[in-house]
Amino acid sequence: MTNPFVYGKVARGEYFADREREIEELTGDILSGQNVILFSPRRYGKTSLIMEVLDRARELGALTVYLDLFAVVSEEDFVKAYAREVAKLCGKGAKALVDRIRSLLPRLIPKVVFHGEGAEFELEFDFDLGSEREPILDDLFEAVATLSRKENRPAAVVFDEFQEIALWDHDERVRRKMRSHFQHHRGVSYIFMGSKKHLMQRIFQEKHSPFYLFGKHFPLGKIPREAFSSFIRERFEKTGFRVEKGVPERILELTENHPYYTQHLCHVLWELRREKREVLVEDVELGLEEVIARESHAFHELWDNLPLKARQLLVALAKENEPRVEIYSRAFLQKHGLGLPSSVQRAVERLLADGILERMDGAYEFTDVFLKRWIQREFGA
Ligand SMILES: Nc1ncnc2c1ncn2[C@@H]1O[C@H](COP(=O)(O)OP(=O)(O)OP(=O)(O)O)[C@@H](O)[C@H]1O
Ligand SMILES: [Mg+2]
Repeated sequence: MTNPFVYGKVARGEYFADREREIEELTGDILSGQNVILFSPRRYGKTSLIMEVLDRARELGALTVYLDLFAVVSEEDFVKAYAREVAKLCGKGAKALVDRIRSLLPRLIPKVVFHGEGAEFELEFDFDLGSEREPILDDLFEAVATLSRKENRPAAVVFDEFQEIALWDHDERVRRKMRSHFQHHRGVSYIFMGSKKHLMQRIFQEKHSPFYLFGKHFPLGKIPREAFSSFIRERFEKTGFRVEKGVPERILELTENHPYYTQHLCHVLWELRREKREVLVEDVELGLEEVIARESHAFHELWDNLPLKARQLLVALAKENEPRVEIYSRAFLQKHGLGLPSSVQRAVERLLADGILERMDGAYEFTDVFLKRWIQREFGA
């Protein structure tokens, strides 16, 4: 029997919990052509959520495009990847597809590439960015809107990990071009997603940026405790487990409702108890020990590379176990022997830059809740 909990992959279908409110709202946004800027800390479930939303939108007749910019490292890559996704909207059958693509993207030369034995194929594109850079981008950024008008269907275009565009679009030329097209598209909802908060802020909140005030901001939070705890219980019970009262609640207490870490702990717990087919509240601690044991090598390495002040601050935060604590207050500095606020500030900056801490509504949270639990164990916090 397969483990009913997944982590590290997009969670879909029965592996996906709740988010009913978000799905409804985002689907509504797509159908009304609203642009959205969707952000959250790492691994809160943005990609999983948007996949569910796009499924729903497609059922309701929308055209959908999903493009992950994580692996896109140049403008050429971007053109190829976007064109390939647009091509997927152009129907089946190689001939009809190529004809439609020729009219939508006349400057790109599609090559039909077959995968394996079956009739599965994809289009790849050749082009010369040198001479026709601007017209190619113009065609590309109009393509979805043109299809949406022709077919009289709403459309959604999702750019996942959008902040990565700044790595190669240094002068914002591509982003300015995008905006100049997208702002006229009434029937298309453009959705920009990302987790690197400072980069997303730079793109969407700075006045000089092409995407300043470009859409509605949609911060994605954690999954509410009640819905998540029913999900956990159901997943265990569906695979024949007896779940002692209080188990889901204890799990969520330890993972602070974080979607990824919750699934991780549940996955390990399920494995540990698969013979007995029973999970008790006391087992939850064993599950946590197991997770921490598996991660401890990585934690040690991370720790070894941190300066002393950063370590001291992490220990202090883990001991307080309260992200809202005022870290520059004299009481906090004295209690934990942290010295001057200026040196703590440097440590905070380092920890934020390394993604070890995250700033959430004015509070400092551990990105990895298991790192916090490890510190609490190691340093008797
Ligand atoms: N709605 C959900 N129900 C159950 N588990 C979820 C849900 N959303 C996310 N998860 C868990 O969190 C993990 C990360 O989800 P996902 O990759 O969608 O997050 P993300 O915000 O896109 O992450 P990243 O910042 O790395 O892009 C999933 O593998 C799954 O374990
Ligand atoms: Mg993602």
